[in-house]
Amino acid sequence: MAVQIAPSILSADFARLAEVESSVADSADWLHVDVMDNHFVPNLTLGLSVVRSLLRHATLPIDCHLMIEDPDRWAASYAEVGARNVTFHVEAAAAPVRTARAIRAAGARAGLAFKPATPIEPYADLLPELDMLLVMTVEPGFGGQAFLDVVLPKLRRARALLRGRDNLDVWLQVDGGIGPDTIERCAEAGADVFVAGSAVFGADDPAKAVHALREQADRAAGAVSAADDPDG
Ligand code: DX5
Ligand code: ZN
Repeated sequence: MAVQIAPSILSADFARLAEVESSVADSADWLHVDVMDNHFVPNLTLGLSVVRSLLRHATLPIDCHLMIEDPDRWAASYAEVGARNVTFHVEAAAAPVRTARAIRAAGARAGLAFKPATPIEPYADLLPELDMLLVMTVEPGFGGQAFLDVVLPKLRRARALLRGRDNLDVWLQVDGGIGPDTIERCAEAGADVFVAGSAVFGADDPAKAVHALREQADRAAGAVSAADDPDG
């Protein structure tokens, strides 16, 4: 299970997005872009045209996290303009299978996101349609919120669910309050893709912050797989 770090631009300077991307281009795996419509969440960020512009300047693949109503209508467009991953919320989707298929047909990975109180088990049969599960570790809408450790059991159950389907390559992403104090608990619980906004762009040196988070997550994930390995 390879650790991946996806800095979220939500806590960066929106007037300098291209520079923000360059600051982590050599250290991160993805650039996480939060699309909010002021309806699904009480905050408004950016949409398709900004993502399209950002893609012209970015070398990192873009991970779009759609916090919008009616993702069935909009999600595939983000894949069509070139986002490499498009994640939409299960609470907002009327037809998650059709939407995931449309994202994949447009050439991107498809992710399904769950707010803290939304269980994953009812969607277990949809896993073959998906490339990633996003387990929100805060209520979506804002950066800089405190990590909700009540979500950790769900994260563990999601990892167990994926382990039970061992031919499925579905990533498990966490988003919200991820930083030096919380990333290890998430890695131990089974997350492999880590979104971090304020922990990266609130740091003096964002690239250094990404390296440090990766090291912590690698160490915690390594300790878990060593404990799971019957041969030691
Ligand atoms: C919140 C967003 C996150 C946000 C995380 O709804 O989905 O991606 O940027 O910010 P931090 O890492 O500061 O909690
Ligand atoms: Zn996000």
